[in-house]
Amino acid sequence: MDKEKFYITTAIAYTSGKPHIGNTYEIIFADAIARAKRMQGYDVFFMTGTDEHGQKIEMKAEEKGVTPKAFVDDVAGMIKNLFDSMNISYDKFIRTTDEDHEKCVQKIFKKFYEQGDIYKGYYEGMYCTPCESFWTESQLVDGKCPDCGRDVQPSKEEAYFFKMSNYVNQLIKHIIENPEFIQPVSRKNEMMNNFLLDDEFVGKSDEEILKAIENGTLKTKLQDLCVSRTTFKWGIPVDFDPKHVTYVWLDALNNYITGIGYDTENPSDLYKKLWPANVHVVGKDIVRFHTIYWPIFLMALGEPLPKQVLGHPWLLQGGEKMSKSRGNVLYADDLAGIFGVDSVRYYVLREMPYATDGTITWDLVTERNNTDLSNILGNLVKRTLGMSNQYFGGKIVNYNVHEDVDKELIEIASNIKDKVLNKVNEYKIADALEELWTLFRRANKYIDETEPWNLNKDESKKERLSTVLFNLLECINIGANLLVPFMPETANKIFKELNVKAREFEEIAEFGLLSEFNVTNNPQILFERIRMVDIQPKIDEIQAKQIAENAPAIEFKEMEPITIDDFAKIQLKVGLVVDCEAVPKSKLLHSTVKVGTKTLSILSGIAKSYTPEQMIGKKVVVVTNLPPREMKGFMSEGMIICAEDEIGNISLLSPEKDIIADGSNIS
Ligand code: MSP
Repeated sequence: MDKEKFYITTAIAYTSGKPHIGNTYEIIFADAIARAKRMQGYDVFFMTGTDEHGQKIEMKAEEKGVTPKAFVDDVAGMIKNLFDSMNISYDKFIRTTDEDHEKCVQKIFKKFYEQGDIYKGYYEGMYCTPCESFWTESQLVDGKCPDCGRDVQPSKEEAYFFKMSNYVNQLIKHIIENPEFIQPVSRKNEMMNNFLLDDEFVGKSDEEILKAIENGTLKTKLQDLCVSRTTFKWGIPVDFDPKHVTYVWLDALNNYITGIGYDTENPSDLYKKLWPANVHVVGKDIVRFHTIYWPIFLMALGEPLPKQVLGHPWLLQGGEKMSKSRGNVLYADDLAGIFGVDSVRYYVLREMPYATDGTITWDLVTERNNTDLSNILGNLVKRTLGMSNQYFGGKIVNYNVHEDVDKELIEIASNIKDKVLNKVNEYKIADALEELWTLFRRANKYIDETEPWNLNKDESKKERLSTVLFNLLECINIGANLLVPFMPETANKIFKELNVKAREFEEIAEFGLLSEFNVTNNPQILFERIRMVDIQPKIDEIQAKQIAENAPAIEFKEMEPITIDDFAKIQLKVGLVVDCEAVPKSKLLHSTVKVGTKTLSILSGIAKSYTPEQMIGKKVVVVTNLPPREMKGFMSEGMIICAEDEIGNISLLSPEKDIIADGSNIS
């Protein structure tokens, strides 16, 4: 019997720069779904890629002094490498500069024109270059782009328009009759109320709206879409009017069909097999393009609509504004360099709820790595393999000597496959992982309950001990099989440790399928525990590099000149921090600083950048002739000199050579 097909896509990333962890989250999320579907026996086709045209890219290439094509080749290559490094199992990586895509988009444009869906007119409105979006005055928020909040420019030009009114009723009907089309449901309401229905119809029941469509009385607010530009060149030319290039969204959205061989006259077999897509995975900000314009283009082509558009929430960076010039943009490869690929995959999949935004920071990833991965999963595997080797030289036989305490564990393990996959099939990946971790947690508890180390003391309990370890190994094995879609490398590592192969899908949760395990006698640590203090220097280095590449030079402001005598009045000395403590409820550190034969008590507002432990033993630069003053109950008898940049990063200044003794003069 033929396998059922499953065609899944992600949004294609702009090639204006390197995708941050939020963009990459989407690809990891879709990858987990694609892998889980493959595991369930679907014939999966997973497509991702890059969106390479538009004015912004033309401008960026010009800034860099290269052609747009050279610019996008470079960035698309980098994006593909990034996705490969995160183990993304795409079947096709489409680029909108692929020749077959460009040709097909030209044919589609022409077909729309010839059948009267596209007409020529003038465009007058506001344009947001970064979003490549036109807006009417009324759509602007405080005069800015409603999507990204940036400035928009007025623009008037000859342009082609797509007549949305030809299809809008049909679209509204489709959305009402197919409640699964836009997910989550909240996004469906947003589309209907904000972009489709005229205010008069907002809040009316589905029945009333369908009735109005039938009677021809429905009013909508969807306007015709400008689908060509003449003010820049970097786009797919309209072949019958080459001073126009195709609007980047009309170009990009079509990737979902051109990438699998659509053609206006003679579509490929692959296309016939795969279309309509089962799901388009996109971020919440571009649901509008995918549930309004894209279905309307497909209707105009006479093609069926995708079964579902899944608008996922955003992954935000700890509430802070993300900016490269602040050096705080997180990238998947930087994170993976510290935590490993699977720890990053786990974090983003586990942390992102289905409908509300998730958060990511270095601290949060560290915490998850240490708790869920190192403590729960890593320890389970380590303890079980350790005991298997210690008590039985790695060969664990299932003697089926069961006790009551086994029941719950075996029940959880036997049901876990359905529980996890039910969640995955609803695209609730964070919940699927939560389910899976109930098994690992329960198995750890089982170790504490059964106390294998005590069973080992009693010769008559050897078969029970072996059964206990077998039960644990079986839980790890079943768990590893279910980890495959989310953390493929870790699953393979565990299979290797257990000396087993991934199971056939039907057999995954068959507890006791094997009668024995022969585990490795050299188990590896799956996840190292990570301490923020150890990785902080690496994080600083990553941030410093990002700032160096992106931050504008700090403006140099002139000050009143001083004389050399003025300068000589400041007594600057090398000090050695011999003790340090945090001052409660403040940003202050209280340091005891040895300056030659004198010892000073000094307060500094640097607690957000240094821990007391980091301070002790440091040689620092100290101003020693300031008048003493009291703060928070401590005396401060000097000042430790620090550099501080415009966004509040703080660094101590220290003599470069260790040989300089404390108390030395600085001049
Ligand atoms: N090129 C368009 C998509 C065209 S699809 C025919 C685009 N590109 S993008 O590079 O800006 O974004 C790629 C995807 O990442 C989009 O789905 C977008 O919603 C998503 N995300 C952007 N920022 C994100 C987060 N902070 N978190 C999660 N997803 C994020 O839009």
